[in-house]
Amino acid sequence: MSRDQKFFDMYSLVIGALIIFALAILVLSMKMSDLTQGIYTRDVAEYQSDLAGRIRPLGQVYRAGEEHASSAPTVETTAEPEPVATAMSGPQVYNAACLACHGAGIGGAPVLGDAVEWAGRIAQGRDLLIEHALQGFSSATGYMPPKGGRLDLSDSEVEAAVDYIIDESK
Ligand code: HEC
Repeated sequence: MSRDQKFFDMYSLVIGALIIFALAILVLSMKMSDLTQGIYTRDVAEYQSDLAGRIRPLGQVYRAGEEHASSAPTVETTAEPEPVATAMSGPQVYNAACLACHGAGIGGAPVLGDAVEWAGRIAQGRDLLIEHALQGFSSATGYMPPKGGRLDLSDSEVEAAVDYIIDESK
């Protein structure tokens, strides 16, 4: 065998090995991309819609008059916990909301414990006093704001305060 022939054989062997190696890498890379992205076996339409979703622009421009369903993500909200009812007692409400005026007779408010001043008012009946306390009241002496200006109080809290005032002023 000539040296040229020997070189040629060796050369073909190396080239062949390289081709097999390259093919192996090709097959392996196809297998890998299939495993990780599934682009060879997955439905093309599904893949394209997935892709469109990934490269979707953040915003879209609509002209006036055009109507489009919002593509903004809907925010899931968890139900607000029910506020725990913490009703105040009559005296508590009185101290917090009524004392300011009824403690010293500010603005013509009938003073708590002043039986003479309260007698005529109590004579109107509890229901009317409660109504006046809830809705506000103004006669000769001054102006009583609805719920004493504390609209955050519940009706029953104001009621309890009126009961307290009546009890203390008889
Ligand atoms: C800003 C001052 C003010 C506050 C605060 C206030 N009052 Fe009065 N209240 C008055 C005045 C003034 C009157 C007298 C109004 C009149 O007769 O002209 C009055 C009258 C009343 C009367 C008698 C109503 C009637 O028919 O004669 C009741 C009952 C009463 N207030 C309950 C309350 C209660 C309960 C609170 C607290 C939740 C409260 N008030 C807070 C000023 C106030």
